[in-house]
Amino acid sequence: MSKAPFRIELLQKQDRSAFDCGEPELNAYFHTRVSQDVRRNYATCFIAIDKTGDRIAGFYTLAMGSVSLGELPEDVVKRLPRYPQVPVVHLGRLAVDQKYQGQKLGGSLLADAIARSIESEIAAYAVVVDAKDENAVSFYEHFGFLPLSRSSKTLFLPISKAIKNLGNK
Ligand SMILES: CC(C)(COP(=O)(O)OP(=O)(O)OC[C@H]1O[C@@H](n2cnc3c(N)ncnc32)[C@H](O)[C@@H]1OP(=O)(O)O)[C@@H](O)C(=O)NCCC(=O)NCCS
Repeated sequence: MSKAPFRIELLQKQDRSAFDCGEPELNAYFHTRVSQDVRRNYATCFIAIDKTGDRIAGFYTLAMGSVSLGELPEDVVKRLPRYPQVPVVHLGRLAVDQKYQGQKLGGSLLADAIARSIESEIAAYAVVVDAKDENAVSFYEHFGFLPLSRSSKTLFLPISKAIKNLGNK
């Protein structure tokens, strides 16, 4: 059995009510709305379970999406085909319960989401994330994500770069 303190699995019927990441909007989404998104095939939701207490320690959501070619930086656009939309995997929300923050779980959830995007048989150019504030922007930048436009809180990481990053570990 794995010695990692968390296991990551698909959200099913687990009780989500105790989850608290410190951000009311993200908590409300996870407590009440995420199951509808999952049911309607608008998102998949993965959760990290604390193996010692069987408690939900973190979650993230994934969906297919696209961004307009013009939203990407010019030096990137130069190397892409001229289709108006660029296929991406959309990492909609990611959060860690306050009790577990600062223990590398956010980074592990992000790595898990990127790994699933790399392994998918459905092509995507990049993983795109919506950061809700500057703190979240700096979290994603820490892992090599780049802003779509100068003022944007939407960031992207090309899958090719993510694969290279893995190779350098
Ligand atoms: C942002 C959040 C997901 C980080 O999760 P976490 O488990 O506390 O972070 P980790 O312990 O995995 O940190 C991993 C690395 O990211 C760095 N990091 C964490 N938060 C960071 C931030 N805001 N800015 C820059 N770097 C950050 C850590 O220093 C660590 O670096 P290292 O691996 O080089 O030592 C978590 O604090 C959270 O859920 N916050 C509330 C919700 C939120 O803001 N979600 C963001 C998406 S909208």
